[in-house]
Formats: sequence, structure tokens, C-alpha cells
Amino acid sequence: MPADGDLGEAAAVLRTGGLVAFPTETVYGLGANALDARAAARIFEAKQRPSFDPLITHLADAADLEPLVGAVGPAVAALAARFWPGPLTLIVDRPDEIPPIVTSGLDSMAVRVPDHEHARRLIAAAGVPLAAPSANRFGQLSPTRAEHVVRGLGAAVDVVLDGGPSRCGIESTIVDARGDHPVVLRLGALPVEELEKVIGPVTVRPGSSGQPVAPGTLAAHYAPRTPLRLVSSAESAGAGGPGRGYLAFRDRPAGDWAAVEVLSGSGDLTEAAARLFDALHRLDAVGVAEIVAEPVPDTGLGRAVNDRLRRAAATWDPAI
Ligand code: TXA
Ligand code: MG
Repeated sequence: MPADGDLGEAAAVLRTGGLVAFPTETVYGLGANALDARAAARIFEAKQRPSFDPLITHLADAADLEPLVGAVGPAVAALAARFWPGPLTLIVDRPDEIPPIVTSGLDSMAVRVPDHEHARRLIAAAGVPLAAPSANRFGQLSPTRAEHVVRGLGAAVDVVLDGGPSRCGIESTIVDARGDHPVVLRLGALPVEELEKVIGPVTVRPGSSGQPVAPGTLAAHYAPRTPLRLVSSAESAGAGGPGRGYLAFRDRPAGDWAAVEVLSGSGDLTEAAARLFDALHRLDAVGVAEIVAEPVPDTGLGRAVNDRLRRAAATWDPAI
């Protein structure tokens, strides 16, 4: 837990237009004052993020939503009431106070209340909503530890708060529930099944698009530096070899691999999601020529894990 002084200092940096990386339950965020267009511009610069990729606005408390954006519809209100604080991002209409750079010019805005003490205390201390994408360079692996942020963004960030490893380890689920037919724009740490218990059937928007309403949905994204190949099963992975690393779901693969990461020895998808990016960061660091990954069961959180693996693989094989 950072001392209150650290949080106070970080909040002051935010109020003067600086960038603060902070822990959330999903992944680490790179925060700036969402009311300040110049501060938001620094996020795009630090991440080398294209300006067409809108940011998520983070609030300290669900009660802060309507004062910022006005009245929301019943499905949005029900989801916020049920899942905030938590790993769910909702699409609302962009209020005038939020400069268009934050939403890449869209009339809509993505917003969530993170379920992490440091994050909520930081936002409350700053006294402003925070625009915060994941704290990594565009297209690369998301950070689930403070050291991932330092390694990936380094001097581009003014302050990095360390809150330990992220509990979920995978980004928030993004839902547009403004209309009669709610649409999941990005699979994430809140399983679709949980959403459906509250608002009924939802459509999951099919993955890739050249018109990135949600570039977390670009075909190629979330990629390690090492080429990653997604195989259909452990059996089709081959026999390993000195230059090859393996990302397994629950069982160590046969063969002689240079490095192996097992996501969950007990086959638990929550644990697998929590460890996904950390395991990929480690495989990326050992210096293998190729990472071979197997999919996890495609249910609940497993859908979001497989989604990230497919996008990581697509960076190296655009045919996917
Ligand atoms: O878990 C998370 O959501 C993390 C933590 C830090 O909160 N943040 C995160 O941000 O994953 P980022 O920037 O890496 O991904 C945000 C996604 C992008 O794909 C973006 O296109 C989409 O949210 N998005 C933002 N505003 C949107 C909008 N108005 N309509 C549709 N998609 C939007
Ligand atoms: Mg991201």
C-alpha cells in the first residue's frame, strides 16, 4: 500500500497535467486528468497510441457517474449498480466536460469504476475523473505488475504506483447497453454469463475490424515481442526445442521446451486469466525465438483469454 503521501503526491501530479500509472484489479492504467485535453494528449504520446483509439474514463465511485454524464438508461444503471466497482466498462454519452480527444471524437464515452483501493483513493484525491488506458505501448502486452510498466513505458510516466499484481490480470469487459440490444465490444474480466444474469441476452461483437470502435478489438493486439503461435491443442504443438517457449493451460507439455509457463495447474480459468499477461511477459523475457500457446476452454473467462491469445498470434500471422 503506498503511503498516503505517495497518493497525495501522485494526485497533485495528475492535477497539474502529469501522467500517473496506477494499479487496478484488471491491469495497470496510465492515468491523466480526463477534463484536461493536454494531459490526455500526453497519454497518446507516451503510449504511441493512434489518436483514433478512445480512452476509458475512470471514476472513484458509481455515485459519481450521473453528476458527470447525466441520467443513464435502465440497463446501464442496472449494470453499474451490480458490477461497480469492478471490471466492467460501460458506454455512455460523452458529456461536454470531457474533451473530445479523450473519446477520439466519438459522441460516446467509455467509463468504469475500478475495484482497487489505490485506484479509487487516487481518483478521489485527484478530485477529477481519470482517462486511463492500459499502461503499455500500443499493441503490446498489458501490464499486470508495476515492473511491467516501468520496463515498457519508463521515463514517459511521471509516477508509477505499485499495488502488487493485478487480481484479474485481463482488461475490463466493455458493453454498450444504451440501446435495446446490448453489445459486448470487448470480452474481458467480467464473463458474458454474469452480464446476462442482469440484462438478459447480449450480442458479442465479432472480433476484428479495420474501423476500430474499440481497438482492443483490433485483430492484432496484446502482443509479446517474441512471435507467438496459437496451436489448436497440445498435441499439435510439436516437440519443443531449444529456441521455443510454451504457454500451457493446465498440463506441462511433452517434449523439451526452453521455457514453459502453466496458467493454472488446477484448470481454474480465473487463475489462468490472472496469470496470462504475466506468463507472456516472462516468456518474452527469456529470449526464445517463438512462443507456442494452446487455447484454454472457451467458456466464462476462458473466452477473454482465448481472445487475447488470438490477437497476440494475429500480430505475427495476419491470416488469423
Ligand atoms: O481494464 C481496463 O479496461 C483497463 C484498465 C486500466 O481500466 N483499461 C484498458 O484501456 O484496457 P485500453 O485503452 O487499453 O482499452 C480501452 C478500450 C479500447 O479498445 C477503446 O477503443 C475502447 O476501450 N473504447 C474507449 N472508448 C470507447 C467508446 N466510446 N466506444 C467504444 N469503445 C471504446
Ligand atoms: Mg490496452
